[in-house]
Formats: sequence, C-alpha cells, structure tokens
Amino acid sequence: MSDRWWEGAVIYQVYPRSFADADGDGIGDLAGIARHLDHLRGTDDSLGVDAIWLSPIYPSPLHDFGYDISDYTDVAAEYGTLDELDALIAACHDRGLRFLMDLVPCHTSVEHPWFAESRSSRDNPRRDWYIWADASTGSGPPSNWTAAFGGPSWEWDSVTEQYYLHSFYPEQPDLNWRNPDVAAAMAEVMRFWFRRGVDGFRVDAIFAAIKDDHLRDNPPDRRPSAIPGLGGDTGQDPLWSMNRPEVHHVIRHLRRVASEFPGRVLVGEAYLPVEELAGYLGHGADDEFHLAFNFELLHSPWEHQHLTLAIERSEALHPAGMWPTYALSNHDQSRQATRWGRERARAAAFLLLTLRGVAVLYAGEEIGMVDADPALLPTPPFDRAGRDGCRTPMQWDASPGGGFSTGTPWLPLVDPATRNVLDQRADPASLLALYRRLIAARESSPALGRGGHRSIFGVAPDVLCWLRELDGERVLVMLNIGDEERRCELPPLGVDSGEFVVATSERSGRAMLADLALDPLEGLAVRL
Ligand code: NOJ
Ligand code: MG
Repeated sequence: MSDRWWEGAVIYQVYPRSFADADGDGIGDLAGIARHLDHLRGTDDSLGVDAIWLSPIYPSPLHDFGYDISDYTDVAAEYGTLDELDALIAACHDRGLRFLMDLVPCHTSVEHPWFAESRSSRDNPRRDWYIWADASTGSGPPSNWTAAFGGPSWEWDSVTEQYYLHSFYPEQPDLNWRNPDVAAAMAEVMRFWFRRGVDGFRVDAIFAAIKDDHLRDNPPDRRPSAIPGLGGDTGQDPLWSMNRPEVHHVIRHLRRVASEFPGRVLVGEAYLPVEELAGYLGHGADDEFHLAFNFELLHSPWEHQHLTLAIERSEALHPAGMWPTYALSNHDQSRQATRWGRERARAAAFLLLTLRGVAVLYAGEEIGMVDADPALLPTPPFDRAGRDGCRTPMQWDASPGGGFSTGTPWLPLVDPATRNVLDQRADPASLLALYRRLIAARESSPALGRGGHRSIFGVAPDVLCWLRELDGERVLVMLNIGDEERRCELPPLGVDSGEFVVATSERSGRAMLADLALDPLEGLAVRL
C-alpha cells in the first residue's frame, strides 16, 4: 500500500454511539463496530471503503458527546477497553481498512485533570495551559467573543476570580496553544495512538486553536464569504478569535509529529471559505495538513450555479497536488436526504463519489437515512445545539431496534422498516448497491479514483459535467441535477462513443456521445 494511500480515498465516518450496540445497553460500542466490518470492506457485499474514522471514543462527561475529553489516552468504558480497540485496529488492518481517530486538540473537558489543576490556583504550574483573563474594566468578560454554540466565550471562575475561554460549550475550556508544554503534551497523545497503529487523525476545530494575544474585540459580521458552520454564524466576524495566522504553527507542529510515523494522515476540520482553507494545506507536499474538509459543497443549495461554483472554487483554489476533501453530511449537519430531498439521494451519492477528491461518507448515508423528526427526539435534547436529529442509530435491519441494539437505544430510530442495510443489500436497485458500485468504479477506473478534473460547461441546463483523466484513461462524468430530461451537447472529445463505467441508473455497454440524454437526476460516467 502506498504511503499516500489517502489520495482519492473513501473514508467512512462512524459515530460510535450510534453505529452498533453489542452489549445491549442502548449505546453503540467497539464490539458493535467489530461485528459490522464486513459492511465496510473485505467481502463481495462490502461498501469497499478505504478507511474508517471514529468520532471520539475517549472518556468524557458527554457535554459535547465525546468532543469534551477527560482522558486522551483511554477508551470510555461504555464503548469498551483499550484492548478491544487494539483488536479492532488489527481487525481493520487485516482487511485492508485504515483506521482514523478523532483528535480534539483545542479544548479539553472541564473534567480533564489538566483543567482541574489549572483552575485550582493562579500559580498552579498548569495555570497557563488554558486561557485565563481578568474581567475587563467594568467587570464584564475580557472580550466580546461569542462561543460557537451561543453565549459569550468566557466563563467566570469564582475560585480564582478570572474568566476562562471556551470557543464551544462552557464545559470545553480552550487549551493555550501558545504554551509549548501544551504542544508537547498533545504530541505525546498523538504518538500514543500512532504507536497503537492508528493511521491518522481527523483534527477537530483547528481554526480555533489560536486566539489574539491582546484579546481584541471582534467586529460585527459583514463578510459576504463567511460560510455557515461551527463558529462562523454567531453574528460577529471571528477576526481575532478564529483562523489567526499563528494557527499555521500549530498545524505544522501536528504535521511534524505525524511525519515521525510513515503513511499517517491528518484531516483538518475548519469551517472556512476554501481560499482560507487552502492555506491549511500548506506550501508543498510535507507542510501542514494532508487533507482538510471543504464544506462548501455540503452548504450549497441543490442548484446548478451553486454546485458549479462550489466545485470550481475547490478545483481552482486547492494548492497544486493537494486533494479536496468532501463530506455531504456528518454528525453536526442535517443529513443530505433531509437537506436536499430524498429523491436526490442517488444523485448526491454520484456527485460525492465521481468528483476528484477524498470522499467522507457519514454512516447511514449509504442507505439514505434522514434526520429524526424533532418532535420524536428527547426533550431536553442530548445535544444543546440541536444536533440529535442526524445522530440517530444506524438501521441494520427492519426490526424495531433496527438491529442496532437489543436494548433501548439512546436516541430513537427513524425508519428501520423502510430503510435498512439488510434489505438494501439484497436489492441491486438500492441506494446501498449504488454506493457499492460507485466505490468499486473508483477502484477499477484509475481516472475516476485518482485522476485529474476538468469541467465542461454549457452541456445542458442543470447538467454538471467534467472529465476525469489519468494515464491515458479518460472518464466523462455527467449529472443532471434537475427534474427534466436533458439532451447533452458535448464539445468535440476526439471519439464519438464510450463505455458506461457506472451510472445512477442501470445503463451499461456502449454510450453514443452524440445521442446522450440524461433522465431527471441521472448521473452517467463514460470511459472514452
Ligand atoms: C467539531 C465537532 O464535529 C463537533 O461535534 C464539536 O461540537 C465541535 N467541533 C467542538 O469540538
Ligand atoms: Mg453498548
């Protein structure tokens, strides 16, 4: 396997709490994941993904469902043990599946021993591991910064009479990345997992790693390019609190640690316009992140101009030689079938998996899962920011428990009788079968898997079209995102026919280019 295995890879995101529960406590666990590896890779029926990424499984008081970590080098008891994790990593590797963990370097839980020490007194050696500041004159918070989930970013601590900073929930105090001891501690965390065989990390919320050292007030938000997301839509331009230039020192530090171990990958998460995100991929092949999520496609309306713009910006603005990373949903966002409509699920799958890029597939998308009806979700919600709807359990079969759990699931299932893995596995016309065919096509066609991208404009209204090319293989990709049949006017391509590689429909065999009409929401990939 190549050292740069992630180029063009498909990464499958597991939200561990909701994937599969082996011990019947209603909460997904490592043993549950281990039982379902066949779904991911290794058999004829598998999806064939290249890697699995687990959202956090570390001990946590669950104020942010694992993104508030109280111990970076252990597994929460409800998910299993370190031994089980070692066995899971080995089982993944046995079937050629890479294993990524979630690294949350910018904040800990309030219950982390580092924070307990830090808050115990102003002269504790770990005081400066977090960001403490006096009240501003007039006794308010030190700056006007707002947290990603609302409210001020500052929390008053009455013991030592200072405020501490939290970019997310108050239970997630921000680490002080200007302190070299913090950087060294996080490097040890990474090494701990790399030595256990972890192939890389998805790196959480990295744009929040560094804040202005003068704590200057943020101006009101008037940036037309700000994209919605975590931290980008709080009514102010996070000029001084996010995406500071010094964040690149932090990323380079993480990259240097990753480079101590061959073949490991860092996938950065930052809700930024792609022109700013591009800087997170550094200058040259061994600088900063290997990959960084581009959320512009996820945030795009299902509309021809918007999707075109998202794709063009991505292709134009990624540094040469770097791979865009697309996700169309995740545990923070509404599911794609809910956002864009169920009828578009097949077209969305085709879009994600035929573009040049690393595709990150959120568990459940392959069977077209939708968000839970808010009225059916628990009140008060588990997640105060309202993200329970996209976190409901995976639907493995048609039983009421969906094959997820024999106990009472921590969140209700949405519709296992209508949408589940078992039924779709048996149905060649299912969405699951389409995902499997699309991923297989990326394996069998080097151009689709790892080729370059060149857009072709003006083929027909509502039709997105591009060419993927590698080593002499050319694949023409067309996707009708509208609900009318569209006849394509292709530019001269040097041949007048090709062969269908994969389609959202049942088409196969020869394709006559002069005579191509796409059905509503149909996607076709044709080898020229
Ligand atoms: C991004 C994670 O995806 C989200 O779930 C979490 O709440 C924030 N980062 C804070 O860690
Ligand atoms: Mg369990």
